[in-house]
Amino acid sequence: MEQYVIKGGNPLVGEVEIGGAKNAALAILAASVMTDETVTIENLPDVRDINVLLQAMEEIGVKIDRKDRHTVVINASGIQTLLVENEYIKKIRASYYLLGALLGKYKKAEVALPGGCNIGSRPIDQHIKGFRALGANVRIAHGRVIAEANKLSGRHIYMDVVTVGATINIMMAAALAEGRTIIENAAKEPHVVDLANFLNSMGANIKGAGTDVIRIRGVEKLHKTEYSVIPDQIEAGTFMFAAAATRGDVTVRNVIPKHLESITAKLIELGCEVEESDDEVRVVSSGPLSHTHVKTLAYPGFPTDMQPQITTTLALSEGTSIVTESIFENRFKYVDELAKMGANIKVEGNTAIIDGVLKYTGARISAPDLRAGAALVIAGLAAEGITVVDDIYYIERGYEDFDAKLRGLGAQIEKAESEKDIKKFQLKTG
Ligand code: UD1
Repeated sequence: MEQYVIKGGNPLVGEVEIGGAKNAALAILAASVMTDETVTIENLPDVRDINVLLQAMEEIGVKIDRKDRHTVVINASGIQTLLVENEYIKKIRASYYLLGALLGKYKKAEVALPGGCNIGSRPIDQHIKGFRALGANVRIAHGRVIAEANKLSGRHIYMDVVTVGATINIMMAAALAEGRTIIENAAKEPHVVDLANFLNSMGANIKGAGTDVIRIRGVEKLHKTEYSVIPDQIEAGTFMFAAAATRGDVTVRNVIPKHLESITAKLIELGCEVEESDDEVRVVSSGPLSHTHVKTLAYPGFPTDMQPQITTTLALSEGTSIVTESIFENRFKYVDELAKMGANIKVEGNTAIIDGVLKYTGARISAPDLRAGAALVIAGLAAEGITVVDDIYYIERGYEDFDAKLRGLGAQIEKAESEKDIKKFQLKTG
């Protein structure tokens, strides 16, 4: 198992290039199987979840040609099976996007039940409800979701909860259904919009993505396209909070500032200065950080995927802050790890009450999931002394070259594979 070993205490300073959005790319890759023509996707992040999905697609007969680290050329004309049950696919949440994509194109799909981060119960009832509304027969057997239909017909579907995954899945299946589908109470996240743009570039007819009513007129088939994935809002936000927590001065480059508005607003409440330009945002954290309250919400609200990073920063801010997690109920597990570093946080149900402390102290901690793992690295960067973050496997699911990008901002962080490596780092950094 690899670890990050960090000598904290340096403000992060400089510029960092943000990669393509993992969650948009996952949906777009899955959707690329919906045409027999060749699709080129650029600005893919080179992270584990993406590579697992590509491997699973290859195993069912999709031709994948990795042109370079961030570009892939896909041809799905040779798909041999509609059963997706790769050993690793069960671990990623987005495996279920292949359900909507394959069901739309072939009217049949059989995909292992999705896994993903253990951040609370993650039902798929809304996905199933949507597929059924379109006319599919859906059942769960042998640990798989099996969906099949003679034909899919457009319908009016009202989502009971705002869900990104189900909105995306229904949008894919409906793109190749007969007639018109209306999804009400749809998710508005940037990756929902990016997928709609991608499908439209393949000839789909989808309107309203980015609002809570999406209208899809089914088409007979989709065609080739070339498409570049949007920048990763959460990767950008993570570096922005790393700047705040370390009292640094960081410019995140290649971003869409509009997607970062809820994050920017909170950083300003904390006392940071934030400067925006066309595709860059600069965060300067020079004075003391002040407390604030935050509640995670669907877009354009504050993202649940940024909750650990803001909590970690608020634990270093003056006064008492309250963070309410309203999307996933089990997303405060990392708080016990932060406590080892001196944080003073009390969790009651879906609320964390945070009494700010002056500093963290380095400790041996372990990443419980992807975003919490990144937040613990932020804590290590801000801490006095050495922090070792175990289980960085989770972090690598969603952050490309996280340690290298942080080193580019002046951080002292390295990957370690053994206790010997950790000792070496301790000696080197004094
Ligand atoms: C996606 C993101 C994840 C992010 C989350 C919320 C991907 C691969 N993952 O996850 O990083 O944290 O959006 O922004 O893009 N729900 C139901 N029934 C369903 C589906 C969801 O009740 O059928 C509930 C969930 O339990 C949760 C809420 O809806 O409380 C939102 O979940 P959803 O938006 O679907 O999250 P994911 O798509 O799994």
